[in-house]
Amino acid sequence: MYDVYAIRPDFPVLEQVVYLDNASTSQTPRPVVEAMNEYFFEYAGNYGRGAHRLAQATTEHYENARESVASFFEADPRNVIFTKNTTESINIVAHGREWAPGDRVITSAIEHHSNYLPWVGLSSYGVVLDLVDANHEGIIDPNAVEEKITDSTKLIALSHVSNVFGSVLDIDQVIKIGRKHGVSVLVDAAQSAGEIPLSMKKLAPDYLALPGHKGLLGPQGTGVLIIHDPEELRPTILGGGAVEWVRGCDYELLDPPARFEAGTPNIPGVIGVGRAVEYVKTLGVTNVEKHVTMLARLAAKQLAEIENVTVYGPENRIGVVSFNVADLHPHDVSMMLDETNKICTRSGYHCAMPALLSLGLDGTVRASFGPYNTIEEVNLLTGAVGLIATSLV
Ligand SMILES: Cc1ncc(COP(=O)(O)O)c(C=O)c1O
Repeated sequence: MYDVYAIRPDFPVLEQVVYLDNASTSQTPRPVVEAMNEYFFEYAGNYGRGAHRLAQATTEHYENARESVASFFEADPRNVIFTKNTTESINIVAHGREWAPGDRVITSAIEHHSNYLPWVGLSSYGVVLDLVDANHEGIIDPNAVEEKITDSTKLIALSHVSNVFGSVLDIDQVIKIGRKHGVSVLVDAAQSAGEIPLSMKKLAPDYLALPGHKGLLGPQGTGVLIIHDPEELRPTILGGGAVEWVRGCDYELLDPPARFEAGTPNIPGVIGVGRAVEYVKTLGVTNVEKHVTMLARLAAKQLAEIENVTVYGPENRIGVVSFNVADLHPHDVSMMLDETNKICTRSGYHCAMPALLSLGLDGTVRASFGPYNTIEEVNLLTGAVGLIATSLV
């Protein structure tokens, strides 16, 4: 296990606040910021184009980042595409596949809008959505997914970990079900990448969509899409850097992944993500998983003991705790936590409105943990919530 207190100086802002909004975006450690600074100050050029030394150095660093990310997820680097966030990764799949009227997509009623609206949007092609229900703790039964499959089902798109409940989906089982029925599977790993070991070798979903800026501790504006068979997907954005040649109106795409990365990419961001996965590797993903699980379960247990506090989600949660304090609006609670103790939590629908509405909720307060959070911070949170809750009695 790594020493939590020893890594905290890598995240200077933690001296000022109690940062418990990691499910939204994480803090970025010094070595990652330094790697990005190095790009700006020492070799900034464009990627994949130009024979001069800076362009070459940039291309080499960018491809090294791809190798690092590929190795982190045990994927073929040719299958790793850099995007600007998980949302873009999912949309590349939604708009890159061929759809016919009557095709069906299975997703769930508790998805983040980013793994929901891209499929809703396919209705313009005549694609029909089938929603799997989760139970009141945000748990989805893989058998319920299988029951939704019909001859017209083309894709199952589900999140690995719910950003509202912290519940974990048995994705191994869902991928097996998809394979058995010849249906593609997209795993939205926004809340698990960097916090649960994920291997394209062992897991082999058709698509793995993930952020660089959450569990991987990379900078904002970065995401990754890993595609099992990139030849099957049409690039949604065409332009410079994605083609072998253009003559008149004819053109030939470059091999993947370049064909999916037209235009100048977020070069410093990608270099940051490359450094960030190395950082997470030194912590050990399994250690991070144990740590954020321990913190989330401790917080949930302590919060549940407070009168007037309702905690949502299963006991076996990872990383995330959603709760409410009596009838107080979640935004008010979140603001009080910030004002009284500089505790940063998220409040509202967490971009998963259908999930919260299905529970009859107008939102929750959400505390989410990262590898640098401590038990003392959990105690500060639950102490502060306790004071708010008891002031109502
Ligand atoms: C489960 C889930 N999917 C998708 C997203 C969207 O991620 P991004 O902000 O990287 O686009 C989030 C963000 O919180 C999420 O929690």
